[in-house]
Amino acid sequence: MPAIVLVGAQWGDEGKGKATDLLGSRVEYVVKFNGGNNAGHTVIIGKEKYALHLLPSGILTPGVVPVIGNGVVIDIPVLFGEIDGLNARGVDTSRLVVSANAHVIPSYNSILDRVTERFLGSRKIGTTGRGIGPTYADKMTRVGIRVQDLFDEKILRQKVEGALALKNHLLVKVYNRRSITVDEVVEELLTHAERLRPMVADTALLLSEALARNEVVLLEGGQATLLDVDHGTYPFVTSSNATSGGACTGSGIPPTAVTRVIAIAKAYITRVGEGPFPTELFDEDGEKLRSIGAEFGTTTGRPRRCGWFDIPIARYASRINGVTDLIITKLDVLTGWEQIPVCVAYDVDGERISELPMTQTGFHHATPVYEYLPGWTEDISNARSLDDLPSNARAYIDFLEQRCGAPISAIGVGPEREQTIVIRDLLS
Ligand code: GDP
Ligand code: IMO
Ligand code: MG
Repeated sequence: MPAIVLVGAQWGDEGKGKATDLLGSRVEYVVKFNGGNNAGHTVIIGKEKYALHLLPSGILTPGVVPVIGNGVVIDIPVLFGEIDGLNARGVDTSRLVVSANAHVIPSYNSILDRVTERFLGSRKIGTTGRGIGPTYADKMTRVGIRVQDLFDEKILRQKVEGALALKNHLLVKVYNRRSITVDEVVEELLTHAERLRPMVADTALLLSEALARNEVVLLEGGQATLLDVDHGTYPFVTSSNATSGGACTGSGIPPTAVTRVIAIAKAYITRVGEGPFPTELFDEDGEKLRSIGAEFGTTTGRPRRCGWFDIPIARYASRINGVTDLIITKLDVLTGWEQIPVCVAYDVDGERISELPMTQTGFHHATPVYEYLPGWTEDISNARSLDDLPSNARAYIDFLEQRCGAPISAIGVGPEREQTIVIRDLLS
């Protein structure tokens, strides 16, 4: 019963979309289990470039059943917009299945996300402004709206009334915004019901039956380990569980069905939004990584903060997720540096530690301890096996592998599907 989990090892944008696409042709189901349209996955197939937000990247592979799991929060107009955009480009989206238990992002939550950020001022998170945080908060406080509620107008109205009773106080009295009427929200949501209905299913049951038939299910994480609400750099995180545990709760697949956990890490690190980032670069090297790596957000277009590879983070991600395979992406971006610093430990207030600091204060005070590896100048974008890599690039990979706590099974050397060195079969 092979369920395979794929997660980000750092702060997101590691190339999860490309990795999912790479595996797509060999799996029957691809499930998005967390997050919403805060994610942005770029997938390049031949001359076509796709930017996916809410749909699992597996939607691009003919024959795959893409599933939006119960752990996802859905902005329905965005979902339909993405489907229409793909259909216009000839991509078949007819197999998409959406969990009846997934939560819906009502428009008031996108407003609340943005005004809350403004209210936080210098303590803001730097969210994507898509309503993700308020919608997961509603889920936890049990005033959320689920996909299934759209098919029972009476229930929907009651739930929207309940949610707005509280939120209108916040909007009007605290944030000085206009109040929202129950009618406008209910009417808007009901306009989507009929189009959504044929896509909706008990996805946990569907996936359980698929696994019983020995079909392969790939669980594709949005965001990443350090953005996980429990295991990330809280409060500078997203509001869902982006780690492998979230793959189970967000899909209804039990932990005992998971046979492999693949984590994706860049050969350096990027971060979008606020929060601590020990290896962040503020000099020309940071600029160079950003421009060579095209490090601008797929969702918000914001420049990504860039820094050197951080071993304690990779080791932490291996531990928290139970990683069986690491994929290192964007090795090609490091071509041309004379030497490449790699963070092997931190100095926290004069003490050297090799794990992530236990406290937020410790993380903010952590400065990187670097080892310097020799760089390479040869173009590696055409490398297809380890033997094709220059010896210093190979040594860089070996160094990471020895210290990250998991074997490296593939290496990305360019954005295109073929620009990958596969060391170990990820599905066998
Ligand atoms: P995701 O959110 O983890 O799916 O990653 P994003 O799509 O947001 O960002 C990764 C970016 O890197 C995308 O533009 C990819 O096309 C690109 N990419 C992925 N793998 C590689 C690689 O090995 N080399 C290079 N140069 N680009 C890559
Ligand atoms: P993918 O799946 C990078 C960041 C935001 C912000 C924080 C909280 O493409 O890797 P949110 O809107 O989720 O409440 O914002 O999380 N963030 C991401 N950063 N990649 C992502 O997704 C992200 N999704 C959220 O920038 O700092
Ligand atoms: Mg992304």
